Amino acid sequence: MSELATRYPDLERVVFSQEQIAARVEELGREIDSFYGPEDELLVVGLLKGAFVFTSDLVRQLEGRAVTVDFLTAALYGHGTDSSREVRLHQDLTASVEERHVLLIEDIVDSGKTLNRIGDLLAARKPRSLEVCAFLHKRIADGLRYEPRWVGFDAPPDWLVGYGLDLGERYRHLPFVGAIATGEE
Ligand code: IMP
Ligand code: MG
Repeated sequence: MSELATRYPDLERVVFSQEQIAARVEELGREIDSFYGPEDELLVVGLLKGAFVFTSDLVRQLEGRAVTVDFLTAALYGHGTDSSREVRLHQDLTASVEERHVLLIEDIVDSGKTLNRIGDLLAARKPRSLEVCAFLHKRIADGLRYEPRWVGFDAPPDWLVGYGLDLGERYRHLPFVGAIATGEE
C-alpha cells in the first residue's frame, strides 16, 4: 500500500503536487501583476472557505502594486440538480467595492453557480473592474457569466481535496491536490 493510501485512505492519487502548485501560483502572480497598471490598487476578494489557501499564496506573489485583501463566505445548499441548489452568502465583505479594481479568487469552478451569484453581487456594487482568478476549473460550467481570466489548472472530473478543498470539511490542509477514490474499480 502506498504511503498516501496509508495516511489518507480516501485518497486515490495526487493530482497536483505541492511543487507544481507553487510553480503555477508564481506564474499566475506574474500574469496578474502585468495585467494591471502599476498605479492600480487591487482589492483581492477570497471566497471562503475553499479559497483561503490559494488566496494567501497568490497575494504573496503580487508585488507590483498596492493590494488589500478581504473575504466573503458563500456556500451551496440543497441536493440534487445544480438548478435546484442555492448559493447563500454567510458573511459579507468589510471593504467597499465601489470604484475599486476587484479580483475575485475562487478555489474551483464546478457548475459555475457560486461564481455567477457572487459575481452578480459584486458587479452590482459598481467596481471599477471585476476579474476572476480560479485555482481550478472543471470546464463543465454552463452559462458562466464571469469566466475566470486566470486559471491555475484545468481539473479532472473527480472530487478533489487539499489546498483548501474539502470533503465534508476534511483535507483542506493538505499542501497538494488529491482525488478521492470512488470505489468503482
Ligand atoms: P459551483 O458553484 O458548482 O461552481 O461550485 C463551486 C464550489 O463547490 C467550490 O467553490 C467548491 O467549494 C465546491 N466544489 C466543487 N467541486 C469540488 C471538488 O471537486 N472538491 C471540493 N470542492 C468542490
Ligand atoms: Mg466549498
